[in-house]
Amino acid sequence: MIPEQLRNLEGAHMINFDPYPVTPYLHAIMEGLFYRKELYDWITTHIEQAESIATFGCAGGEETFAFLWALGASEAIGIDKDEGSIKRARELHSAILAETNKSLRDMTHQPESVSTNVSDWWNTRVVDFGRTGILKQDPKDIFVVGDITQPTNLLSNHYDIALVEYVLYHIWPNENGVRQAIAEMARIVKPAGIVAALEVVQYGDNPRVNFETLFEQTGLRQLFPTEEFPHKSEGLPQLNIAPVSGIAATYIYQKVES
Ligand SMILES: C[S@@+](CC[C@H](N)C(=O)[O-])C[C@H]1O[C@@H](n2cnc3c(N)ncnc32)[C@H](O)[C@@H]1O
Repeated sequence: MIPEQLRNLEGAHMINFDPYPVTPYLHAIMEGLFYRKELYDWITTHIEQAESIATFGCAGGEETFAFLWALGASEAIGIDKDEGSIKRARELHSAILAETNKSLRDMTHQPESVSTNVSDWWNTRVVDFGRTGILKQDPKDIFVVGDITQPTNLLSNHYDIALVEYVLYHIWPNENGVRQAIAEMARIVKPAGIVAALEVVQYGDNPRVNFETLFEQTGLRQLFPTEEFPHKSEGLPQLNIAPVSGIAATYIYQKVES
């Protein structure tokens, strides 16, 4: 679903698509897609589409919007324990709604402005995204404050896919907390639904974490083999997250139909 002209742009999150400025939608999707390009290549290679998604440790919402976009979903829930992040995610939702409404108005009044270049392609996608219904929902129902190491009140057997990205390793070495987070993702996905994770499994002098065992103990079935690759991140000082250099791994598991 990522068009070639965007796939091939290095550092595309820095680009202004003249005459359109970097709008909230563009910012959310670009940041989601290009800061996490490996993740989206990985997820869209294995999972073609989903109607409803859950993002555990969603931070400021960019990841949730990019997943919605990449998987063609129309329903989402994002949960994070950090109240400031959830506030930003809700504000992002409101800003994207305003932008989408403007794009719809522009297209109604100037349909001749829609052409095939990247700017107009993007403008068309904004309109398509606005039609999915996600923007008609109250952002308070989409982005919620919660601790994923504790039971949540999210709906059971409801989502097609639950994703967690670079969150479980912050919870480690609280093994029970990680197990509870995985069990919660397994609970909320539909039968045959997907639980997917991209996590740092080893860094510094710390021993390698065997997340596979925890997934398997939750009764999930591995759908694709674990893939490992080198990981380096500059950290997020605003969230007290230190720079990390180590090994990351991807996991895709499935809820067994009863
Ligand atoms: C490195 S950030 C990753 C954010 C997002 N997944 C991404 O990749 O952009 C880790 C996030 O996990 C959240 N987090 C850490 N422990 C959590 C917990 N127990 N429950 C909910 N969120 C948690 C943090 O607040 C932070 O927003």
